[in-house]
Amino acid sequence: MLEEYRRELEKSGGKDESLPNIEPKYFKHYVAKEGSFIAETDGMTVGFILTKAVPYMHGEERVVWMEQVAVLGGFRKEGVGGKLLDAVEDWARRKKMRMLYTTLNTNNEPSKRLLMSRGFEVRDWRKASKNLT
Ligand SMILES: CC(C)(COP(=O)(O)OP(=O)(O)OC[C@H]1O[C@@H](n2cnc3c(N)ncnc32)[C@H](O)[C@@H]1OP(=O)(O)O)[C@@H](O)C(=O)NCCC(=O)NCCS
Repeated sequence: MLEEYRRELEKSGGKDESLPNIEPKYFKHYVAKEGSFIAETDGMTVGFILTKAVPYMHGEERVVWMEQVAVLGGFRKEGVGGKLLDAVEDWARRKKMRMLYTTLNTNNEPSKRLLMSRGFEVRDWRKASKNLT
């Protein structure tokens, strides 16, 4: 999913500086913690969201850092990404977290739309957060 995103970006001349090297330790880091989810359709993984709780970040306490969300091409714009964000928000509220926080690529319209559909305040097209208090 991330390779596909990288290729799409390259086609339009864009680059996502924050896109990590796709290697097992990247995923293992998140899977070893709470707060990450996959979306399945008929037993097939069609999306994932990687997040983790951070006690203190950028002057805020009890923040959930949202690292990456991706949905497989062919399953997009069907509400999967939104459901993944909903799952994170439900978990974060149960854990009494106070904010969801992420950064986004300025040219990534689907990402911006996804966040805005879930009530995120996208402040300068780079930072998006949602207060849970
Ligand atoms: C961003 C991404 C995860 C969205 O997943 P998705 O399953 O298509 O999202 P949803 O179907 O739940 O859509 C959520 C909202 O965004 C809107 N949206 C999603 N893709 C859109 C697009 N290409 N153009 C316009 N609006 C779009 C939907 O209409 C919906 O809004 P609504 O609830 O107001 O109708 C998916 O496009 C993706 O995997 N992209 C590649 C990876 C990536 O860019 N990840 C984000 C970087 S961290």
